[in-house]
Amino acid sequence: MIGKTIIRFDSVGSTNNYIKSNSSLLEEGTVVVSKIQTSGRGRSNHSWMSDEGNLYFSFLINGYISRSKIFELLAKVSNTVIRLLRDFNIKSEIKYPNDILIEDKKICGILIESYGALEIDYVVVGVGINVNQLDFRDLNDKATSMKKILGINTEVEQVLEKFIEHYNVLENIPFTEIFNDYLKYSLIIGKRTNYNGETCLIKGITETGKMIIEKSDVIKYINLNEINIKDLF
Ligand code: BTN
Repeated sequence: MIGKTIIRFDSVGSTNNYIKSNSSLLEEGTVVVSKIQTSGRGRSNHSWMSDEGNLYFSFLINGYISRSKIFELLAKVSNTVIRLLRDFNIKSEIKYPNDILIEDKKICGILIESYGALEIDYVVVGVGINVNQLDFRDLNDKATSMKKILGINTEVEQVLEKFIEHYNVLENIPFTEIFNDYLKYSLIIGKRTNYNGETCLIKGITETGKMIIEKSDVIKYINLNEINIKDLF
């Protein structure tokens, strides 16, 4: 269960970093949320635009998770976002592995970071949801927000509440059901992309999060972190 304890900031470097620095002091499921982030981080060392008006938060998961279960967590978080947006009458899709898109524009990014030597000691899940932002500057053709879709402001706090509510419900739903939903909302399946300089067909995703591609009649299984899908056609 997440959200029993919520730590709120007006401003913080990065909610993921805050949890990482304080992991031994925080209890399992603690949520850290901030109105703005001064060093918001995305995947692949990208920065994450963190202007006021959107939702930036992270939560802590302690110990019990095995490396192979990271995809389960990712699928759960992705489905949580799909469900919460549906509550606001917004239909969204998942771009493997962890972007939530509306009409090809990103509304949410998920950053899952695990720490530990041989075993995972703890995992930090960071989520950024574009709620009330209208101008994304140089990312205007790549990003969207709830306000862009709905035309009205939404309380950021209400979006966080919905996230926590749906996530805690999904904690009690079998992974097979969550996985089926992940596939149902995945926009990459059946599309083509470039992999190692060649065009390949995306056939599916396995229950451990590998992407199944077909290249020159050969099936390959690609690891989550081996690919960053830029073009889909
Ligand atoms: C991505 O799409 O690249 C992932 C973006 C994740 C952004 C969130 S905002 C809250 C949390 N704190 C961070 O520094 N990053 C994540």
